[in-house]
Amino acid sequence: MQTLRSTTAVPTSVHCDHLIQARVEGSQDLRESLGENSEVYDFLKTAAAKYGVGFWGPGAGIIHQVALENYAYPAQLMIGTDSHTPNGGGLGSISVGVGGADAVEVMAGLPWEVLYPRFIGVHLTGELSGWTAPKDIILYLAGVLTVSGGTNCVIEYFGPGTSTISATGKGTICNMGAELGATSSTFPYDESMARYLRATNRAELAELAEQYRHLLAADPEVAENPSAYYDQVVEINLSELEPHLVGPHSPDRARPLSRMAQELQEDPGLVDEISSALIGSCTNSSYEDMSRSADVAEQAKAHGIGAAVPFMVTPGSEQVRATIERDGQMQSLSDINATVLANACGPCIGQWRRVGDPVGRPNTILTSYNRNFPARNDGEASTMNIIGSPEIVTALALAGRLSFNPMTDTLVGADGQEFMLEPPKPAPDVPQEDFDKGSSSYDDPPEDGSDIELTVAPDSERIQLLQPWQPWDGEDFVDMPVLLKAQGKTTTDSISPAGIWLRFRGHLDRFSDNMFMGAINAYTGDAGKGKNVVTGEEGVGFSRIARDYQAQGIKWVVIGDSNYGEGSSREHAALSPRLLGGAAVIVRSFARIHESNLKKQGLLAFTFPDPADYDRLQEDDRISLVGLKDMAPGKQVECRIQHADGTSETLMLNHSYAESQFDWFRLGSALNLFHQ
Ligand code: F3S
Repeated sequence: MQTLRSTTAVPTSVHCDHLIQARVEGSQDLRESLGENSEVYDFLKTAAAKYGVGFWGPGAGIIHQVALENYAYPAQLMIGTDSHTPNGGGLGSISVGVGGADAVEVMAGLPWEVLYPRFIGVHLTGELSGWTAPKDIILYLAGVLTVSGGTNCVIEYFGPGTSTISATGKGTICNMGAELGATSSTFPYDESMARYLRATNRAELAELAEQYRHLLAADPEVAENPSAYYDQVVEINLSELEPHLVGPHSPDRARPLSRMAQELQEDPGLVDEISSALIGSCTNSSYEDMSRSADVAEQAKAHGIGAAVPFMVTPGSEQVRATIERDGQMQSLSDINATVLANACGPCIGQWRRVGDPVGRPNTILTSYNRNFPARNDGEASTMNIIGSPEIVTALALAGRLSFNPMTDTLVGADGQEFMLEPPKPAPDVPQEDFDKGSSSYDDPPEDGSDIELTVAPDSERIQLLQPWQPWDGEDFVDMPVLLKAQGKTTTDSISPAGIWLRFRGHLDRFSDNMFMGAINAYTGDAGKGKNVVTGEEGVGFSRIARDYQAQGIKWVVIGDSNYGEGSSREHAALSPRLLGGAAVIVRSFARIHESNLKKQGLLAFTFPDPADYDRLQEDDRISLVGLKDMAPGKQVECRIQHADGTSETLMLNHSYAESQFDWFRLGSALNLFHQ
């Protein structure tokens, strides 16, 4: 017999970081965001208290930085409902980004399932120096492995170079393993981790890790013959690594900084002039990052110049913000006209109100963030986000040009004299004094929250309680129209855009009006629009078509390209298709978290055995999925395609369902199974 839990089975925390605006500057933006989102924050706070969950309020920081400061430690297994959770690998944790359904199961005490990963070993030798930063390791690696090269892999860094990198630098590298599709990334335990644990009041964990140091690193024989242990090995000599820039529009479009100027000349689609530069985020706002950026800023100030373009800083946590305010880095950045934003995701998740000329025309922004899909930052697909390390972003912000190379080019000081920037000095990874915790808002849950009531106003526009999905009726899906055949990169941002839509994230029905808004229609090349094959109307938003099909009781399918659903763990990218009547998603290949999210929400997730099968699907086709009652692990599913010209063909589709997972589909969702 099942017993009901009143609190979560594992220590759990909620973090309010995505909804905070970047409009003017940190404190005003936070104040306004608190007012605009109070209903959501009150709900989260109350729910956290009721179920024994810690609550990090708005302004406390971005989840991954806060997790590194408080929760991550060597040999830990941590899951988080955000794809950059692997940031915890900076402290030797195996931290994995998952969908909400996975998290619910873990919070309820059920085992967590993940496809057994392959292992990529990244052998680091040498030592970073000059302008090269930990960020450049992962930017370079993104170019080598590409955005799908880490799918269903754990990336393990090993070799003597690992101990030359700070724990927070390691965090940056592990954080961006998500850009390669990696399940997780991790580093061996070393002194930098011990130092960070001690500096964040966890000396006892450092001592424990010291005792078991031999278990917290690759075995010595691995270094002798890495190919015997890893499925793939990548060698990086840190002493030879150059600063890199990646983008626009994809984090694997990488090149050394020294090649950027030439590429700008060769590619007329790129824009040299930088319209805004942004540093920080969950990826790069450590004490070390801010100190090295401040070093560059101080050099500029000494020559009487400031940033040539709007320059913004997002501290990853209140602890980072308060500490760099106390220790002077923030002043140095402000001295070159930096705007310090709230300790939150802000422009990284589209909460950036840009005004003025660049909006709506091709323009370059330069960030030290992790993700650069079209329209992610300011909602404009024409904005091109190029990613570099914080110190490089700061240097290029002074020049205002992407083609600027601080290692070879000069700036002009206020006195009219040319000068060259020196590489930033090596910076401490933790402050000499203790970190300043600032005014962080954290609430421990009460001893007993069982009397706390959760209420949602029936007319709320912000929160809607979900109802269980209907179970499968046992019949095959027949004659389904193709709602969308997506072409090329289809990220969770394309399926379920954030930005202004985040406002409705707690209200699935309102939120789902954004469904597939960023997906490219393979038949027309348009984003977000397709043909209603029942009415014949063209150029209609996909959510409107889906709602129309649903009103007529018509199920629909989505056809996707390679690495479909890459990017984030955004569960809405599965919830919205489920809400609006989707039955199946058939693709060339899936990104791991999204495939799992689809399956857990009761949608069918299939892949073409031959990628060329994707080309067979026509706009007016009807699709039937046959023999669903007999689905079995490893057994292909029959897909009949009825073309509009009267011809038909049959394909056999692959899937990754284990026996136990079929009930997710049969019962309507993994949550329905869980409730049984
Ligand atoms: Fe937030 Fe961007 Fe990180 S959305 S969690 S700062 S990737």
